[in-house]
Order: sequence, then C-alpha cells, then structure tokens
Amino acid sequence: MSGGLHPFQSAPMDSDPAQPQPLPLESAWHTEHFGSTIGRHLQQGQVIALTGEMGSGKTTFVRGLARGTGLSAHVVSSPTFVVIQEYIGPIALAHVDLYRLDAPRDVHETGLADYLTGHFAVLIEWADRLPPAWLPSDYLSIHFTHAGHTSRRASLQAFGPRSHGLLQTIMADTR
Ligand SMILES: Nc1ncnc2c1ncn2[C@@H]1O[C@H](COP(=O)(O)OP(=O)(O)OP(=O)(O)O)[C@@H](O)[C@H]1O
Ligand SMILES: [Mg+2]
Repeated sequence: MSGGLHPFQSAPMDSDPAQPQPLPLESAWHTEHFGSTIGRHLQQGQVIALTGEMGSGKTTFVRGLARGTGLSAHVVSSPTFVVIQEYIGPIALAHVDLYRLDAPRDVHETGLADYLTGHFAVLIEWADRLPPAWLPSDYLSIHFTHAGHTSRRASLQAFGPRSHGLLQTIMADTR
C-alpha cells in the first residue's frame, strides 16, 4: 500500500479507478430518485456530507432519501432558522443545514454532536462549513454541481468501510 491511506480510504477521485464517475442528474426528479435509492440502503449511524453551491440539489436529494427510508417526503424542507431537523421513521434521520453557521466554532452550539453517536443517519448540507475534525472517519461525501442550466451532477466519494460498502451497493443499484 502506498501513500499511507487507510485500506478502505479512497484516493482522490481522478486517480482511483474504483471511484465512480460523476452521476448525471437530468432533472429534480432524478435527484430525488437518486436520494431514494440511497435511502433504501441507508443504515443507522451513516453520515452523508452534502456539498455543492446554492441550489445544486442537496435538499431535493434529502427529500428523496427520506422517501427511500419509508418516510413521507413532505417532512423535508429547507429550514429557515433551524439547523437540525429530526425525521423519525423506520430510520431516525437528522437533517443538518449549516448554511447559516456564521463561524465554524459555532457548530458546538448546534447540538450536532448529539446526533453523531450512531443512533441517527445524519445528512449534512454545506458540510464543507464543518471544522474537519467534526466529520467522522467513516462517511459518504456527495458533491453536487450544476451541469448547464437545467441539470446537475453528483460526485460520490466514500471514506471508511461502511461508506465504501454503501457506495458499492448504490452503484450496483443505479446501473
Ligand atoms: N438534477 C436537477 N436538475 C434540475 N433542477 C434540479 C435538479 N435537482 C434539483 N433541482 C432543483 O434545483 C432547485 C434547488 O434545489 P435544492 O433546494 O435541493 O438545492 P440546495 O442545494 O439544497 O440549495 P441550498 O444550497 O439553497 O440549500 C430546486 O428547484 C430543485 O427542484
Ligand atoms: Mg438546501
């Protein structure tokens, strides 16, 4: 093994043939459907870091994911003031939106630590606003980008054995 990577840790996407190519999401429906595919395989304790510029589809993805776990998609919204929303269904979800986090150190006041204990699946919008030490060693990263005016792309990267397994399952299910 070279480069000191943990056996399950992914190398940067462009140098690792095992990393999937960015997934085209041609409409909001596709973003939601992609979320629901992941939701069907989601387990308690999974952390998903969602990044991508404003309006790139993070909340739409969470809506689909909630539906995939068996919840009504209507429970998911973009909260104006609340940083963390709980959706309790077959799987307990914590939907975190850090857009309004003024400074990284303020994350201590959000209560996020209480959700990273393994009892919730945690979906974090604007995860790049987290101080790096706050992300667990095992998480799935999904980065959304605009692709033209009316579509998006999602790039997935897994860190840790659990997320690697989830990524493989997702890729098999989205073929
Ligand atoms: N693949 C897609 N193609 C076209 N439009 C999409 C796609 N996915 C989502 N959208 C649309 O983009 C808009 C913004 O989506 P959404 O609110 O999910 O973005 P967001 O990343 O959560 O934004 P914010 O950064 O403000 O939280 C919505 O109108 C949604 O329907
Ligand atoms: Mg959002």
